[in-house]
Amino acid sequence: MDYTDRHVVVTGGTGALGAAVVDGLLKAGASCTIPYRHEAEAQRFDHRDNAKVTLIAAGDLADEAAVAKLYAGVPLWASIHIAGGFAPGKLADTDRAALMAQLDGNLVSCFLCCRAAVNAMLAAYNGGRIVNVAARPALEPRSGAGMTAYTIAKSGVATLTMALAEEVAKEGILVNAVAPSIMDTPANRKAMPKADFDKWPKVEEVAATILFLASPDNRVTRGAVVPVYGKA
Ligand SMILES: NC(=O)c1ccc[n+]([C@@H]2O[C@H](COP(=O)([O-])OP(=O)(O)OC[C@H]3O[C@@H](n4cnc5c(N)ncnc54)[C@H](OP(=O)(O)O)[C@@H]3O)[C@@H](O)[C@H]2O)c1
Repeated sequence: MDYTDRHVVVTGGTGALGAAVVDGLLKAGASCTIPYRHEAEAQRFDHRDNAKVTLIAAGDLADEAAVAKLYAGVPLWASIHIAGGFAPGKLADTDRAALMAQLDGNLVSCFLCCRAAVNAMLAAYNGGRIVNVAARPALEPRSGAGMTAYTIAKSGVATLTMALAEEVAKEGILVNAVAPSIMDTPANRKAMPKADFDKWPKVEEVAATILFLASPDNRVTRGAVVPVYGKA
């Protein structure tokens, strides 16, 4: 895949999956804009000194002003929306604040970034690519028992992907998503030390699917929510 002279926004780009995506993009010749919330996160980021990387202290991407700051003046080819987070919890224990935190972090942030990306791409009349990150329970909602708020939020990401893909296809903007199962990340290994890590998809493997969907090599695929489950 060749991303030479192509600029990509990667939200959540300093996280576990995000860093693998950014690594792949840089190797393929892209330049990247990556937002962060906490200074320590930016300081830890391996690619912070790479001339092709722009780190922006955007803040919370569920906030419209933060999203406007991130996309201002970016010559956008693709926008990859990885920002999000998981919080387990049975419905009986989930109050309004916990529900809104899941919706804001996973769905509202994705919606606002899709909107900013589409507007930037429409203004440039150049088409583009958008890739969102849902999760397995979005495709298999019954597996979302015990994590209802997360499942609702990620189902929203999947539905947004399909509806938006139809809305902007004629403009040459292809919108897709991936739906990972539990990925092999340091945080998951720590949380589930007895699990069979071999069955979990590696972040580099999930990143490879994202990289294809966001690339110019993807010429016709749109509205897909691609399961990336590995052997799980
Ligand atoms: N890990 C898994 O097994 C798994 C499985 C299925 C789906 N997913 C999804 O895949 C994505 C990446 O997962 P990951 O394991 O790489 O997570 P991660 O390491 O925690 O990275 C998530 C990134 O998103 C950022 N972020 C979260 N909410 C944000 C917000 N409201 N505004 C701005 N930035 C925000 C985080 O920033 P901070 O550092 O500031 O928090 C972090 O940089 C997430 O959307 C997750 O839901 C993960």
